[in-house]
Amino acid sequence: MHHDPLRALITLGPTHEPIDAVRFIGNRSSGRMGVEIARALQAAGCDVRVLAGPCSPDGLDSLPSVQRFRTAEELRDLLARSWPACDLLVMAAAVADWRPTNRFEGKHRRGDTAPTIALEAVPEILGTLASRADQFRVGFALEPAEELLASAKAKLTRKRADCIVANPLETMDSESVQGCLVWPDGHADQPDGGALVSKRAFANWLANAVLPAATARCRQR
Ligand code: CTP
Repeated sequence: MHHDPLRALITLGPTHEPIDAVRFIGNRSSGRMGVEIARALQAAGCDVRVLAGPCSPDGLDSLPSVQRFRTAEELRDLLARSWPACDLLVMAAAVADWRPTNRFEGKHRRGDTAPTIALEAVPEILGTLASRADQFRVGFALEPAEELLASAKAKLTRKRADCIVANPLETMDSESVQGCLVWPDGHADQPDGGALVSKRAFANWLANAVLPAATARCRQR
């Protein structure tokens, strides 16, 4: 029987939440892991689309169909438009937790009184994204190593994800990772028995680990 390729949507990179016309609150996500996952899924035969935040990892330009977001709100809007036509979501974007409540008009100057920046929580994106029963969602969790598994399990439920890639905090902005993949029944898989591996090797392993379950789910339609 012939099947269309799985349509995979990968979000990657940080979000930048504006303070004024020239400043923002952001995080150190490089977007590299997301690029490697997109490449791995493409190599595995998926039809790949990417939503990328403000970052410029190597290889981003050679991926097909890259749309850009800056803020969490822009990411949420792009997802709302793109996700209905896709099968697999890999939510690798490092969404800001907090954003300024009010954005200053123009540029706040050094001679001005030092501003107090009031913050508000950024609304949850993955956990509130409308999905169908034939779609498969992979979330991420960036955690202190000692709480990795427990926090990832809690996020699996809170984010309504089908599995969670749990990474220790040190992963952000580094060359290699020591992550694992946590499933709803509580078991966790790791590449190379939990060794520190390159982001490329991790992404290849992840694509193989996720695709059988994602494909089975999407073939329900
Ligand atoms: N995420 C999201 N919407 C947010 C924040 C995060 O969809 N507002 C997604 C991320 O893309 C990632 C997953 O949720 O796939 C986990 O992100 P993480 O920053 O680890 O979790 P938080 O929800 O921010 O929780 P905490 O700050 O308690 O660790």
